[in-house]
Amino acid sequence: MTEATTKDLLERRFRVLGKHSPLFYEQPLHLVRGEGVWVYDADGRKYLDVYNNVPHVGHCHPHVVAAITDQVKTLNTHTRYLHENIVNYAERLTTKFDDSLSMAMLACTGSEANEIALRMARQHTGGEGIIVTDFAYHGNTEAVSELGTAFMPEAATSHRVRAVPIPDTYRGLEGVPTESLGDAYADAVKAAIDAFTADGIKLAGMLICPDFANEGLLNTPPEFIARAMAHVRAAGGLYIADEVQGGFGRTGQHWWSHEWEGVIPDIVTLGKPMGNGHPISGVVARADLIDQFGQWGMYFNTFGGNPVSCAAALAVLDVLEQEQLLQNAVAVGDYVAAGLRDLQGQFEVIGDVRHKGLFFGVELVSDRLSKEPATKAAGELINAMRRRGVLISRIGKHDNILKMRPPMPFSTEHADLLLATLADSFSEIQG
Ligand SMILES: Cc1ncc(COP(=O)(O)O)c(C=O)c1O
Repeated sequence: MTEATTKDLLERRFRVLGKHSPLFYEQPLHLVRGEGVWVYDADGRKYLDVYNNVPHVGHCHPHVVAAITDQVKTLNTHTRYLHENIVNYAERLTTKFDDSLSMAMLACTGSEANEIALRMARQHTGGEGIIVTDFAYHGNTEAVSELGTAFMPEAATSHRVRAVPIPDTYRGLEGVPTESLGDAYADAVKAAIDAFTADGIKLAGMLICPDFANEGLLNTPPEFIARAMAHVRAAGGLYIADEVQGGFGRTGQHWWSHEWEGVIPDIVTLGKPMGNGHPISGVVARADLIDQFGQWGMYFNTFGGNPVSCAAALAVLDVLEQEQLLQNAVAVGDYVAAGLRDLQGQFEVIGDVRHKGLFFGVELVSDRLSKEPATKAAGELINAMRRRGVLISRIGKHDNILKMRPPMPFSTEHADLLLATLADSFSEIQG
């Protein structure tokens, strides 16, 4: 019954949304329910979710559901009226940051948050130039599309954005010894600043995802960010950290992925996990930047920061704290990573294993010496995993890096199932 229903749904979707609206897997999944780290398809089959970071504290967490339900039954307006929720949330959120990042603005999507950050940085510096990493993705509005060399045609034509090589200790730069990579990648940032200057464009800042999530969760050379930012700040630019993927404790040890490098951003953007699926995003920044931006032009967002969204976001903070999910991310993250390294010992196709907390990148190569990307194997593997009931995906310039970021209440039992299913799936694709 449901196979026909799913086929019919797919055809209706193609007709009304077009064939280019992306869908995961060779056999698209028709999901109808979620609970914790599990999702259920229309046949009632359950899948272990090792991909979705938006249901951060678990699909349909009862505390978040109750918070949304209670607030939606009471009042939902917008931020031009006083309401406790937005003030409570902004107060609680900013305590998670360095003291210098003391004010917040709220929006609905990560793209909007990055859009605000761009406007704020350009307005404050009087510059236009933004440095990003190659193969970045920061969202889908017109200005933000210019930053995304991964999927966006705008990036190729923008005069005000320059992409630098992805700082990556696994692949490195030809002819550069490993110990010099930090300097070499930072030199590329300096070269981009010089190129802007040559074009008569003043720098506004560098906007990066500090854990390089869309680039493949890379191991960055130590000191890269510090050295790159020294160049950026010397040229009058700001550091914008996109924490849309890496924030809210995903990387375990810290609330924010920029903390790993110890360089404090001027502006931080937030999204995805913030409301556990309810659309809320934000910008946390230096008070002088937010004040100056607000004075310059009015910012209002009809839905951003409304009482229901803030109730969801407050509940997410409650669960992260009460269930000690950052500590869990450290412990279970290390456990999964050890298992992934065991698999690397068994399967030649695994070239590199990287992780921070509950964020994993597993780079597949057809030859460990040449590091030729094993793009086809990565595609086969994620589909084999899906057939076996475990959901993961892939990313990277060559689409050869397995990407795994389960909801934060992921346990060692879930990890065992993930690792066993990976072993079976690697065996299958190896033939
Ligand atoms: C790092 C990063 N920034 C920003 C965004 C954009 O967020 P949204 O889709 O909520 O606009 C994404 C979305 O994938 C992202 O991965």
